[in-house]
Amino acid sequence: MSPLAPRPRATSFTRMVEYVLPQHANIGSTVFGGQIMAWVDLCAAICAQRHSGHPCVTAFVDDLLFKRPVRVGQVVRLQAQVVATFRTSMEIEVDVTGEDTVTGEVWPTVEARVVFVAMDESRKPTPVPPLLLETDADRAGQAAAEQRRQARLAKR
Ligand SMILES: CC(C)(COP(=O)(O)OP(=O)(O)OC[C@H]1O[C@@H](n2cnc3c(N)ncnc32)[C@H](O)[C@@H]1OP(=O)(O)O)[C@@H](O)C(=O)NCCC(=O)NCCS
Repeated sequence: MSPLAPRPRATSFTRMVEYVLPQHANIGSTVFGGQIMAWVDLCAAICAQRHSGHPCVTAFVDDLLFKRPVRVGQVVRLQAQVVATFRTSMEIEVDVTGEDTVTGEVWPTVEARVVFVAMDESRKPTPVPPLLLETDADRAGQAAAEQRRQARLAKR
């Protein structure tokens, strides 16, 4: 079987914007942490599927730190990119920021890392194209992800 051609990060870069409505919020009128986690998972899944060309399942979510809340009427912006690829799995980084569209203020909310596994037609893990590593920063990102991968697999 011929090896899969490397794919540049830009081909799978994914953006989502969500307007925080009352149904997304707790009694303090700030967005539920679980709602942000769901949006992170969705944004990362789209990114993983764009990169791999396969349906993907979530295998692991790293610790999440919620730095500052987002309130009803404000906006949650998400950006997902592939940081590293392995054989059938990919590490996706999602940056989440809050935005007040009235004042123009933007603030960091969460930075998340999620591992997805690509699945074939029989729902078995299937190889993913490698990420094209174009810069020293890309190569350092892949190397750092290799270390995080060892720590995740040790928890199985
Ligand atoms: C994730 C899953 C497919 C792994 O299946 P498995 O039988 O362990 O398959 P393998 O051992 O061949 O592993 C497949 C890949 O998953 C990776 N993986 C498995 N467990 C992992 C973990 N805890 N953290 C990170 N990667 C993991 C493996 O490293 C491997 O990747 P690689 O090929 O790049 O090395 C399986 O555990 C599963 O289906 N889990 C449920 C997924 C789910 O329901 N998600 C929520 C809804 S989408």
